[in-house]
Amino acid sequence: MNGIFISFEGIDGAGKSTHIDGLAQAFRAQGRALTLTREPGGTPLAERIRQMVLNDTMDPMTEALLVFAARRDHLQQVIQPALARGDVVLCDRFTDATFAYQGAGRGFDWQILSQLEKWVQGFGQGTMVQPDLTVWFDLPASVAAQRLSSARVPDRFEAQPQHFFETVACGYARRQTENPVRFAQINADQPPAGVWVDVLAAMQSRGYLL
Ligand code: TMP
Repeated sequence: MNGIFISFEGIDGAGKSTHIDGLAQAFRAQGRALTLTREPGGTPLAERIRQMVLNDTMDPMTEALLVFAARRDHLQQVIQPALARGDVVLCDRFTDATFAYQGAGRGFDWQILSQLEKWVQGFGQGTMVQPDLTVWFDLPASVAAQRLSSARVPDRFEAQPQHFFETVACGYARRQTENPVRFAQINADQPPAGVWVDVLAAMQSRGYLL
Protein backbone atom coordinates (compact mmCIF):
# COMPACT_ATOMS: atom_id res chain seq x y z
CA MET A 1 0.00 0.00 0.00
CA ASN A 2 1.26 3.49 -0.77
CA GLY A 3 1.96 5.87 2.08
CA ILE A 4 -0.28 8.92 2.42
CA PHE A 5 1.03 12.19 3.84
CA ILE A 6 -1.63 14.47 5.34
CA SER A 7 -0.86 17.77 7.09
CA PHE A 8 -3.18 19.91 9.24
CA GLU A 9 -3.00 23.68 9.36
CA GLY A 10 -4.74 26.72 10.77
CA ILE A 11 -4.17 29.68 13.07
CA ASP A 12 -3.74 28.99 16.80
CA GLY A 13 -7.14 28.14 18.29
CA ALA A 14 -8.55 26.67 15.06
CA GLY A 15 -9.22 23.34 16.82
CA LYS A 16 -7.13 20.86 14.83
CA SER A 17 -6.17 18.45 17.62
CA THR A 18 -9.44 16.60 18.34
CA HIS A 19 -10.00 16.00 14.65
CA ILE A 20 -6.46 14.69 14.12
CA ASP A 21 -7.05 12.22 16.98
CA GLY A 22 -10.41 11.24 15.47
CA LEU A 23 -8.80 10.62 12.09
CA ALA A 24 -6.05 8.50 13.67
CA GLN A 25 -8.77 6.26 15.12
CA ALA A 26 -10.65 6.14 11.82
CA PHE A 27 -7.55 5.12 9.84
CA ARG A 28 -6.60 2.47 12.40
CA ALA A 29 -10.17 1.13 12.34
CA GLN A 30 -9.74 0.63 8.59
CA GLY A 31 -6.52 -1.32 9.14
CA ARG A 32 -3.98 1.35 8.15
CA ALA A 33 -0.63 1.64 9.91
CA LEU A 34 -0.30 5.16 11.22
CA THR A 35 2.37 7.69 12.10
CA LEU A 36 1.05 10.57 14.18
CA THR A 37 3.48 13.46 14.40
CA ARG A 38 3.83 17.24 14.54
CA GLU A 39 5.93 20.26 13.58
CA PRO A 40 8.03 21.85 14.77
CA GLY A 41 8.99 18.55 16.37
CA GLY A 42 8.53 14.84 15.76
CA THR A 43 12.13 13.80 16.60
CA PRO A 44 14.21 14.39 19.75
CA LEU A 45 16.31 17.02 17.93
CA ALA A 46 13.30 18.74 16.35
CA GLU A 47 11.45 18.78 19.70
CA ARG A 48 14.42 20.65 21.21
CA ILE A 49 14.24 23.15 18.36
CA ARG A 50 10.47 23.47 19.03
CA GLN A 51 11.17 24.58 22.58
CA MET A 52 13.49 27.32 21.31
CA VAL A 53 11.14 28.52 18.57
CA LEU A 54 8.14 28.69 20.91
CA ASN A 55 9.95 30.30 23.84
CA ASP A 56 13.12 32.21 22.87
CA THR A 57 13.22 35.66 21.31
CA MET A 58 14.75 35.64 17.82
CA ASP A 59 14.51 37.38 14.46
CA PRO A 60 12.29 36.04 11.63
CA MET A 61 15.20 34.61 9.63
CA THR A 62 16.49 32.65 12.62
CA GLU A 63 12.97 31.40 13.23
CA ALA A 64 12.57 30.29 9.60
CA LEU A 65 15.96 28.55 9.52
CA LEU A 66 15.25 26.72 12.78
CA VAL A 67 11.85 25.40 11.68
CA PHE A 68 13.38 24.20 8.40
CA ALA A 69 16.29 22.54 10.27
CA ALA A 70 13.76 20.74 12.47
CA ARG A 71 11.81 19.76 9.33
CA ARG A 72 14.83 18.25 7.62
CA ASP A 73 15.52 16.01 10.62
CA HIS A 74 11.83 15.10 10.89
CA LEU A 75 11.63 14.20 7.20
CA GLN A 76 14.75 12.06 7.33
CA GLN A 77 14.09 10.29 10.63
CA VAL A 78 10.31 9.91 10.64
CA ILE A 79 8.27 11.02 7.62
CA GLN A 80 10.24 9.47 4.75
CA PRO A 81 10.67 6.07 6.46
CA ALA A 82 6.96 6.03 7.41
CA LEU A 83 5.84 6.79 3.84
CA ALA A 84 8.23 4.15 2.51
CA ARG A 85 6.59 1.58 4.86
CA GLY A 86 3.17 2.54 3.51
CA ASP A 87 1.95 4.34 6.65
CA VAL A 88 -0.63 7.08 6.76
CA VAL A 89 1.31 10.06 8.17
CA LEU A 90 -0.84 12.59 10.03
CA CYS A 91 1.30 15.65 10.67
CA ASP A 92 0.04 18.50 12.86
CA ARG A 93 1.46 21.41 10.78
CA PHE A 94 4.11 21.37 8.06
CA THR A 95 5.68 23.87 5.66
CA ASP A 96 2.50 25.85 5.00
CA ALA A 97 2.81 27.00 8.63
CA THR A 98 6.24 28.42 7.84
CA PHE A 99 4.84 30.43 4.94
CA ALA A 100 1.88 31.57 7.05
CA TYR A 101 3.73 32.39 10.31
CA GLN A 102 7.29 33.32 9.28
CA GLY A 103 6.32 34.54 5.79
CA ALA A 104 3.01 36.35 6.17
CA GLY A 105 3.04 36.79 9.98
CA ARG A 106 6.65 37.84 10.55
CA GLY A 107 7.21 39.30 7.08
CA PHE A 108 10.09 37.03 6.04
CA ASP A 109 10.71 36.82 2.28
CA TRP A 110 8.26 34.41 0.55
CA GLN A 111 10.69 33.59 -2.29
CA ILE A 112 13.46 32.65 0.11
CA LEU A 113 11.01 30.37 1.92
CA SER A 114 10.17 28.76 -1.45
CA GLN A 115 13.87 28.19 -2.02
CA LEU A 116 14.33 26.68 1.43
CA GLU A 117 11.29 24.47 0.86
CA LYS A 118 12.79 23.03 -2.36
CA TRP A 119 16.11 22.53 -0.66
CA VAL A 120 14.96 21.00 2.63
CA GLN A 121 12.20 18.83 1.13
CA GLY A 122 14.29 17.75 -1.86
CA PHE A 123 15.58 14.21 -1.75
CA GLY A 124 17.26 13.81 -5.16
CA GLN A 125 16.05 13.44 -8.77
CA GLY A 126 14.20 16.73 -8.57
CA THR A 127 11.60 15.30 -6.18
CA MET A 128 10.20 17.36 -3.33
CA VAL A 129 8.34 15.73 -0.45
CA GLN A 130 4.98 17.47 -0.01
CA PRO A 131 1.79 16.42 1.75
CA ASP A 132 -0.70 14.62 -0.51
CA LEU A 133 -3.41 16.56 1.27
CA THR A 134 -3.40 19.60 3.55
CA VAL A 135 -6.47 20.13 5.70
CA TRP A 136 -6.75 23.84 6.46
CA PHE A 137 -8.99 24.65 9.46
CA ASP A 138 -10.10 28.11 8.42
CA LEU A 139 -11.37 30.28 11.28
CA PRO A 140 -11.74 34.07 11.64
CA ALA A 141 -8.96 35.44 13.87
CA SER A 142 -11.57 37.10 16.12
CA VAL A 143 -13.17 33.71 16.91
CA ALA A 144 -9.76 32.10 17.50
CA ALA A 145 -8.86 34.95 19.88
CA GLN A 146 -11.94 34.22 22.02
CA ARG A 147 -11.06 30.52 22.14
CA LEU A 148 -7.42 31.24 23.04
CA SER A 149 -8.26 33.69 25.83
CA SER A 150 -9.23 30.75 28.03
CA ALA A 151 -6.22 28.65 26.98
CA ARG A 152 -3.11 27.71 28.96
CA VAL A 153 -0.13 30.08 29.39
CA PRO A 154 0.46 31.36 25.83
CA ASP A 155 3.69 30.68 23.90
CA ARG A 156 5.41 33.30 21.66
CA PHE A 157 2.87 32.77 18.89
CA GLU A 158 -0.29 32.38 20.97
CA ALA A 159 0.60 35.67 22.73
CA GLN A 160 0.42 37.61 19.44
CA PRO A 161 -2.40 40.14 18.88
CA GLN A 162 -5.41 39.35 16.70
CA HIS A 163 -3.96 41.32 13.80
CA PHE A 164 -1.00 38.90 13.60
CA PHE A 165 -3.40 35.97 13.11
CA GLU A 166 -5.37 37.86 10.46
CA THR A 167 -2.09 38.16 8.56
CA VAL A 168 -1.23 34.49 9.18
CA ALA A 169 -4.66 33.50 7.82
CA CYS A 170 -3.91 35.55 4.66
CA GLY A 171 -0.68 33.54 4.36
CA TYR A 172 -2.64 30.28 4.44
CA ALA A 173 -5.07 31.65 1.85
CA ARG A 174 -2.13 32.52 -0.42
CA ARG A 175 -0.69 29.02 -0.05
CA GLN A 176 -4.08 27.56 -0.92
CA THR A 177 -4.25 29.70 -4.06
CA GLU A 178 -0.76 28.50 -5.01
CA ASN A 179 -1.62 24.82 -4.25
CA PRO A 180 -5.37 24.46 -4.94
CA VAL A 181 -5.37 20.67 -5.49
CA ARG A 182 -3.45 19.83 -2.33
CA PHE A 183 -5.55 22.04 -0.01
CA ALA A 184 -8.91 21.14 1.54
CA GLN A 185 -10.37 24.25 3.20
CA ILE A 186 -12.60 23.40 6.16
CA ASN A 187 -14.93 25.93 7.78
CA ALA A 188 -13.75 25.67 11.41
CA ASP A 189 -16.28 28.28 12.57
CA GLN A 190 -19.00 25.72 13.33
CA PRO A 191 -19.63 23.19 16.13
CA PRO A 192 -17.04 20.36 16.29
CA ALA A 193 -19.51 17.78 14.92
CA GLY A 194 -19.95 19.83 11.75
CA VAL A 195 -16.20 20.30 11.34
CA TRP A 196 -15.73 16.53 11.74
CA VAL A 197 -18.27 15.80 8.95
CA ASP A 198 -16.32 18.08 6.62
CA VAL A 199 -12.94 16.60 7.61
CA LEU A 200 -14.25 13.09 6.97
CA ALA A 201 -15.69 14.16 3.61
CA ALA A 202 -12.26 15.52 2.57
CA MET A 203 -10.76 12.07 3.29
CA GLN A 204 -13.54 10.14 1.58
CA SER A 205 -13.58 12.28 -1.57
CA ARG A 206 -9.90 11.39 -2.08
CA GLY A 207 -10.48 7.71 -1.36
CA TYR A 208 -8.35 7.77 1.81
CA LEU A 209 -11.19 6.55 4.05
CA LEU A 210 -14.34 4.57 3.22
P1 TMP B 1 0.98 24.06 17.65
O1 TMP B 1 0.69 24.85 18.88
O2 TMP B 1 -0.18 23.93 16.72
O3 TMP B 1 1.69 22.76 17.90
O4 TMP B 1 2.02 24.93 16.79
C1 TMP B 1 3.15 25.47 17.34
C2 TMP B 1 3.34 26.90 16.92
O5 TMP B 1 4.44 26.96 16.00
C3 TMP B 1 2.17 27.55 16.24
O6 TMP B 1 1.93 28.79 16.88
C4 TMP B 1 2.64 27.81 14.84
C5 TMP B 1 4.14 27.83 14.95
N1 TMP B 1 4.86 27.38 13.77
C6 TMP B 1 5.61 28.28 13.04
O7 TMP B 1 5.66 29.46 13.37
N2 TMP B 1 6.28 27.85 11.93
C7 TMP B 1 6.26 26.55 11.50
O8 TMP B 1 6.89 26.21 10.49
C8 TMP B 1 5.48 25.62 12.28
C9 TMP B 1 5.45 24.19 11.85
C10 TMP B 1 4.80 26.08 13.39
